[in-house]
Amino acid sequence: MRKPMVAGNWKMNTTVDEAEVLVAAMLPELNTAGGVDILLCPPFMSIQTISGMISGSQVLLGAQNVFYEAKGAYTGEISPGMLAPYCQYVILGHSERRQYFGEDGKIIGKKINAAIGAGIKPIFCIGEKLEGKEAGKTKEVLAAQLDESLTVADISHELVVAYEPVWAIGSGLAATAREANETIGFIRKKLGQLLGSEMAEQIRILYGGSVTPSNAEGIMAQPEIDGALVGGASLKIPDFSAIVMAAAS
Ligand code: PGA
Repeated sequence: MRKPMVAGNWKMNTTVDEAEVLVAAMLPELNTAGGVDILLCPPFMSIQTISGMISGSQVLLGAQNVFYEAKGAYTGEISPGMLAPYCQYVILGHSERRQYFGEDGKIIGKKINAAIGAGIKPIFCIGEKLEGKEAGKTKEVLAAQLDESLTVADISHELVVAYEPVWAIGSGLAATAREANETIGFIRKKLGQLLGSEMAEQIRILYGGSVTPSNAEGIMAQPEIDGALVGGASLKIPDFSAIVMAAAS
């Protein structure tokens, strides 16, 4: 049995002060949810503060990115070792990293390896763009993304995969639950080919892209979908709590 997970990707939102207010307000509600891993992924600046606030609670902490080298002359970067004391997870390969920061499958694969090496579990994001979907190439695109990044990585079942169709992110146009379930089933089959079916059965695969309280229950009810990676709605306390509750129930 795979434990469901709901992860909030705050992206580049909240100052440290704002993050503190947000976490203080959401923590009591999140702590009432059972049977679900709840993960907050704030900006780097707030990680240390939030780590202190959630200690002793069931809420987990993740980063939104990490570099693959351990240390050295890499101006502006953050290493896995710097995150490891605070973060259990790190989001890698998000489509915004691919689009705005030129990250390709090889770079993402190195980051996956480096995170695992430092004891941080990667949440590896894949997803097709609208052109790919319209051309009927969704499966081809996803298979290529998995091939590119997982062949160089030393993967364990602690890997989490997030299927995030790029056209669904921040657009209000989520994939239908059935569509997402079918695609995630394909991803699991492909993971089985790459890593063995036993491991593929243990790896959690999340859906991401315009998850809201109104579609969360339908998404969570799907057998292949193990949870959600939530962007916009993760900054709204009632919305994020409702999504977490949908995964818990
Ligand atoms: P969204 O973002 O929920 O705002 O669509 C999801 C994500 O980018 O992880």
